This record gives sequence, structure tokens and C-alpha cells, in this order.
Amino acid sequence: MPAVGGIPTGPGKEYPGNLTPYVIVTCVVAAMGGLIFGYDIGISGGVTSMDPFLLKFFPKVYRSKHGDSSTNQYCQYNSQTLTMFTSSLYLAALLSSLVASTVTRKFGRKPSMLLGGLLFFAGALLNGFAQAVWMLIVGRILLGFGIGFANQSVPLYLSETAPYKYRGALNIGFQLSITVGILVANVLNYFFAKIHGGWGWRLSLGGAIVPAIILTVGSLFLPDTPNSLIERGNMEDAREKLKRIRGLENVDEEFNDLVMASELSKQVEHPWRNLLQRKYRPHMAVATLIPFFQQFTGINVIMFYAPVLFNTIGFGDNASLMSSVITGLVNVIATLVSIYGVDKWGRRFLFLEGGAQMLICQIIVAACIGAKFGINGNPGELPNWYAIVVVLFICIYVAAFAWSWGPLGWLVPSEVFPLEIRSAAQSINVSVNMVFTFLVAQIFLNMLCHLKFGLFLFFAFFVVVMTIYIYYFLPETKNIPIEEMNQVWRSHWFWAKFMTEEFSNGNVEMLKGGQALKNV
Ligand code: BGC
Repeated sequence: MPAVGGIPTGPGKEYPGNLTPYVIVTCVVAAMGGLIFGYDIGISGGVTSMDPFLLKFFPKVYRSKHGDSSTNQYCQYNSQTLTMFTSSLYLAALLSSLVASTVTRKFGRKPSMLLGGLLFFAGALLNGFAQAVWMLIVGRILLGFGIGFANQSVPLYLSETAPYKYRGALNIGFQLSITVGILVANVLNYFFAKIHGGWGWRLSLGGAIVPAIILTVGSLFLPDTPNSLIERGNMEDAREKLKRIRGLENVDEEFNDLVMASELSKQVEHPWRNLLQRKYRPHMAVATLIPFFQQFTGINVIMFYAPVLFNTIGFGDNASLMSSVITGLVNVIATLVSIYGVDKWGRRFLFLEGGAQMLICQIIVAACIGAKFGINGNPGELPNWYAIVVVLFICIYVAAFAWSWGPLGWLVPSEVFPLEIRSAAQSINVSVNMVFTFLVAQIFLNMLCHLKFGLFLFFAFFVVVMTIYIYYFLPETKNIPIEEMNQVWRSHWFWAKFMTEEFSNGNVEMLKGGQALKNV
């Protein structure tokens, strides 16, 4: 029986191609697409803990926050409108990622990135000048549209452009810029919150135009991916781009395989309906389970609500924002570890190690909060060491996420789909991610109020389930060329039976005039 990880045994393809300066610059620029997403994640949490912002738009929350401190601390922030403010964006992102599928497939990855930047820009302006709650919400919907387009196209762009041996590292540039976006936003919140006159939140929200401009301008200069050019019939252009990206004259083998993948993909008329076919089951499992699990690590409880959470467990406003700057820094640094290791140690190792580390931290944090706050949420005096221990374990947890589920949640889906369903399946990945980001954002404050410290155990349970899924059902994908990915499913102990002959060999051989693929 093949290995649990489904690591292919036969000789794989080895396309020539280096890490050229051109490919590095291209990927760095494209990865900037993550900035808009990250900036928003980091900004919303901080802004919703700024008093002048709450007083202007959510006065009820402001009053309950500053009301009687003997009331239950777990419930002080529980407000439907405040939650709606944070999470409206994710519904918008969900919808736009579905539209983005068609744009990305028919017009290329670039136009989707451009649209992403422009929509985000519009949303940032509206938010920076907001006078009423509706302006905030409409602004956030526009931001969401932008994020949907960017998250749908950028990971695909990166995985298609990178030489396969460095695909992991280059793709994680996307997650790195998400984490940089979060950190910059946290630092800005920290300073803007101190501005006298209480209008600092306008700078925080309006500041989102900067990452929007970077993505918009960047996408104008990027080349389209060879895969997408071929898919749209621009053969010569595609060959030239491939030579340029790989820094070689002879790219025939890779080029021919890309053409072949594209021929196969043209036989598919309805990418959406096709997703339901049996042979795409393993891909659909990835497209739905990976983003679902990524959100059920509970990471966004920390990312959105770190200041609120730290405030709840007894930190002052200032200390709360400061602690989220610290977690933001850990998030960036640990992502670098992933960039270093992903193509060496593989995806599975990082997933499994990260899962174990998150689980331990969640149990410890739950125990700490439970011990001090108990069931009724009245902590009394909190000693210093207590705060340090909680922040420390939250940091170790964030580090684990940042080198496992964070980057791999975007990398793995973008590299396992065959070209014919790639764009549609990636939209499913983004939508599922957004639905559950939305849900976690919606229910977190409520869950904190009702589940109390048990909230952390709730997420710990999911970490156990996702780690089991990875162990048994996710094959290793490091060092496999993207258009050769079918072999990992064919040699997987469970998924092999879903890979029909027609899918794995028949069409390919027909297209190659009967000449079997070397590695089949
Ligand atoms: C996730 C976000 C999360 C971020 C934290 C991303 O991969 O999709 O939901 O907030 O990582 O760094």
C-alpha cells in the first residue's frame, strides 16, 4: 500500500529553471496582494477598541465597556452591530471571489489583481471619511470585494509563476505580506489611538489606500502567467514569458506540458459543474476542508480581537494594543521559518508540527483563563506573571499557525488543482475561507460571553480533527511540478481509487500521440 502521505515513488519530471531575479521580483510584487487582506485584519480589531470610534458609531458598546466593571468581563463587547462591522467584509469577499473565478479564467490572473486593488482603494476612502455606520459598512463591503479578487488570483499567480522547486517559498510571499499587513496595521493603531482629538481611527481606516495603491500599480506591471496565456490561446507570448521567467532558452518540455494541460482543460466546458465529478473528489476535499480548518484553528480570534481579548483578560487599552503588536511581530517572523522550510521539510511536516504546537498552547491558555476568571468572569486582581504567561502562550500558538496553517492554507489549494478546474476550485477555497472567517468573527464575542475559557478548548478540538485529516488524507506536494500533480493522488492510499484511467492516462496519451508520460 502506498505511503500515508502519498509521496510518489516513480521518477518525477524535472524542468530546468532557476530562481532568476526576474521571477523573484515578479513574485514579490504579486505577493503584495496579501497586504490589503492583512492590513484589514490588523486594523479592524484595533479600531474597534478605540473609544472615540466606539463612541461615534457604537455608543452602546462604549457604555457597556465603561460601565460597571463588576459585570461579567466575558460579555462586555458583545454587540451585534460591532460584529457586523467586522464581518460584513467577509461576505462581500465570498461573493466577489466567485465572480473572480470567471475573470481570472477568461481574462487572466492580472485583471483580477487589478480589480482587487481598485475596489479596495474605493473602500478605504469611504471608510476614512465615514460619517455614519452605513458608510462604514458600505466601505467594508467594497474592501471585501477587493479582497475576494486578490485572494482568488494572487495565490494562483504565484504558484504558476514560480519554478516548482521554489514554489512553496515564493507562494508563501503572499502569506508573508498578509502578516506584514497585520503588523503594520497593529503598529499604526497603537500610535493613531494616541492622537488627541480622537480622529486617529480615520487614519487607521483610510491608511488602507496605501496597500491598495501598491497592489493596483504592481499588477499593471506584472507579466501574465504562461499557463494563463496558453489557456487563452496566446502561444508565442506564453513561450516568451516562460523563457523570461525561467531565465532559459530551452523551455520546451515545460511549455509542451503546459500546452497539454491546457488542451485537456479545454475539453471541460463547465468548470463549476465539473467540480462535482468523482475524479475531483480529492481536490474538492482540499478546496473545502483546508480553508474550513484554517479558520477553525481559531487564529482570527487572536487577529481580530487581540486588543479586545487582552482587554477582557485585564490589560489596559494601551497594553492591549501593545500586546497585539507583539503577536503581530511573532506572526511575521514565524512565517519566515515557513518560507525557509516548506520546500525542504515539506508541507505535511509543517502541518503536523504546527497542529501539535497549537493544541498544547490552546489547552494552556484555556487553563490560565479558566483558573483566573472561572465561570462568572470576575477575575479580581490579576498578577503580572499571569498576563505574561497568557501572552507568551498566545505567541507560541501564533508562531505555530504562522508556519503551518497560515501559509499552507493558501499554498496547498493553489498547487493541487488541475488547470481545467483551477480557477473555479480556488474560488471555492476563498469562499469557504471567507464564510468561516465570517462565522468565527460573528460568533466569537458571543462565544466568549457564553463558552468563556471553553472557547479555546472548542478550537483545540478542531485542531485535533484537522491534524488527523492531514496525516491520513493530504499527500505531500513539495517538489512536484504543478501540472504533474495528479501523480500524488494516484499514488495515495485513499484517493487513488478516485483517479479514473481516463483522467490519469487516457487523455494525456491521446494528446501525446500515444507516447506515455515518463513518470506514469
Ligand atoms: C488567514 C487569515 C488570518 C491570517 C493571520 C491567513 O492565512 O487566512 O484568516 O487572519 O492568516 O496571519
